[in-house]
Amino acid sequence: MSTLAALGGDPVRTEPYPPWPDFDDRDVEAVTAVIRSGRWGGFPYPGPQTQAFLDAFLEMQGGNYAVAMVNGTVTMEVACRAAGIGWGDEVIVPACTFQATAAAPMAAGAIPVIADIDPDTLCIDPKAVEAAITERTRAIIPVHVGAQMADMDAIMAIAEAHDLIVIEDCAHAHGAKWRGQGAGTIGHFGSFSLQSSKILTTGEGGVLICRTKELADRAASVVDCGRPHGAMTEPFTIGTNYRMTEIQAALGQVALERFPAQAKARETMGDYMDEALSDVPGVRVLPRDERHTTRSFYRYVFAIDPAEFGAQREAVAYALIQEGVPTELGYPPMHMYDLFQPALTHLPVARAFPERFRFDELSLPGAERLCRYESIWFDETVFRAGPQGVDDAVTALRKVQENAGELQAAFDQWVADGMEDLDL
Ligand SMILES: Cc1ncc(COP(=O)(O)O)c(C=O)c1O
Repeated sequence: MSTLAALGGDPVRTEPYPPWPDFDDRDVEAVTAVIRSGRWGGFPYPGPQTQAFLDAFLEMQGGNYAVAMVNGTVTMEVACRAAGIGWGDEVIVPACTFQATAAAPMAAGAIPVIADIDPDTLCIDPKAVEAAITERTRAIIPVHVGAQMADMDAIMAIAEAHDLIVIEDCAHAHGAKWRGQGAGTIGHFGSFSLQSSKILTTGEGGVLICRTKELADRAASVVDCGRPHGAMTEPFTIGTNYRMTEIQAALGQVALERFPAQAKARETMGDYMDEALSDVPGVRVLPRDERHTTRSFYRYVFAIDPAEFGAQREAVAYALIQEGVPTELGYPPMHMYDLFQPALTHLPVARAFPERFRFDELSLPGAERLCRYESIWFDETVFRAGPQGVDDAVTALRKVQENAGELQAAFDQWVADGMEDLDL
């Protein structure tokens, strides 16, 4: 049995995985051309680069209308505002997501209601959505997280029955499809982050796909300081400047040229990973829903049974990183974030309704189990390194499993010694 790199042995992989973001001379030329044009910013909205980027984005993802913005958080705030969701309204969000999914409706004045996840997908559980609906509920934000998609059939049925807006958070799902239909085009809105680690990036940026022209015009008005758009003759609302710049949009067009080949490589290697992980003791491959027809992902998530595997996930993730495999623990259960406790949340809505921010009293067993004890996340780069990239990750995981007892004992000691540079 070879010694774990975490315990002084040789790592499985010494060659770095491919860097991100990917770039070449096309990016440099595209940015240079915008700089030479003298039209750098996003005003007047949309500029020629922004329009060309949005057209190409819709071509890739599907949908008819889209608005470009500064990131994939304000996209969701703007969706709420464009749909007239605001003060005191409730928006149902999943317990396994980045804080932005809850912070965005709060920025619009709404109250996030955190619902549990399906332990097979990590995405919002439709039964939990149904149970969370009150007379104040206005919207649901399903998040397509970690190589999975939320059950959009069930969510749209609930939304239709209760007359709710659906905002798909697609920060992890550029290119993904459900029954052949692009993520973000099934609900009323699809929110995409283009932040630098995301699989389609403009450095920072966001795209909001809108189901109707009217919603898109309202969203454009919100991001363009309230200026009227489309058929409007007056500002839709008090807006702000959330416009994407022309430089970002130029980068986005080049990124879209590369995207199909990158997404295909990840998808093929994701299937290969499913297969390769399936007989590692203590590992559970999350099942594929056959309605999720194109899998495109930012992080690949699998689960361990810590007792059967022989070590806790913190120790496993640490050991995998030492073996040269980019690994993360993913999101903690969101109802446990300090951030959303009213005393620490400086947004007016949390102060105004402290009784509706008692997230500390929630019990969400799916998220508490998966997001605290079972899930482990591989970085997308593992899937852009060909079969060898996946083989190395799986060899590393097997090696960790074979040495799990020794690893856990050492890890417990490091934690007891207060070692803080575990970088998890
Ligand atoms: C699930 C999810 N939603 C929203 C966001 C917010 O995107 P941004 O960083 O572009 O604001 C992110 C990532 O950053 C995310 O992972």
